[in-house]
Amino acid sequence: MELIETINNRRSIRKYKSTDIPNKIIEDLIDFARLAPSAKNRQPWKFMVVKDKTKNEIADIMLEKEKKSKVSLERKIYNANSSVKATANIMKQAPILILVFKPKENNWIIGDSLSIGAAIEHICLRATDLGLGSLWIRDIVYTQKEIANLVGISDMELISAISIGYPDEKPKQKPRKKLNEILEWYEDGK
Ligand SMILES: Cc1cc2nc3c(=O)[nH]c(=O)nc-3n(C[C@H](O)[C@H](O)[C@H](O)COP(=O)(O)O)c2cc1C
Repeated sequence: MELIETINNRRSIRKYKSTDIPNKIIEDLIDFARLAPSAKNRQPWKFMVVKDKTKNEIADIMLEKEKKSKVSLERKIYNANSSVKATANIMKQAPILILVFKPKENNWIIGDSLSIGAAIEHICLRATDLGLGSLWIRDIVYTQKEIANLVGISDMELISAISIGYPDEKPKQKPRKKLNEILEWYEDGK
């Protein structure tokens, strides 16, 4: 697929077929993440692929905490409608979940987070290129410690996750801001 076509075709996919994905394909996705730019070339990312039982346990951790919390976790912190339950159920349905970890070093929070964002987008675009669907997930944030514990990671922080699978839906492109809403030209002397 041409790059322009890939960028235009990428969507957040929230319905997946149960078709298995060979490990070689997942390795290919991570290989593209490897090529992303990063602040000071720190390449501050680690990716962990989870499937089946562990993937579902991760989703259950999210569902349980959300259920136990009187006010939705997302509303409490961001005053936004909660999508945790919906996201956890999508994670259960998708055959693959990629957990994305970042170093805990405080001096690099922003640089590392931006770099990891670039790497995640590489994964999502390569997935589209290969006919796969992806969903970039941040709803793991409220249970990041519990999830990291479950998979035995203590020296890094879980910053994101990505669901991957063959798409079982064809969503339209979500509305985008117009170019003139986001672009300013600064001209000397005006
Ligand atoms: C940093 C980030 C976090 C996101 N977290 C979630 C999430 O937890 N659950 C979810 O359903 N979608 C999540 N999304 C997907 C966005 O909702 C989606 O990208 C946006 O609505 C635009 O739709 P599109 O990706 O189809 O263009 C996330 C996207 C980004 C970039």
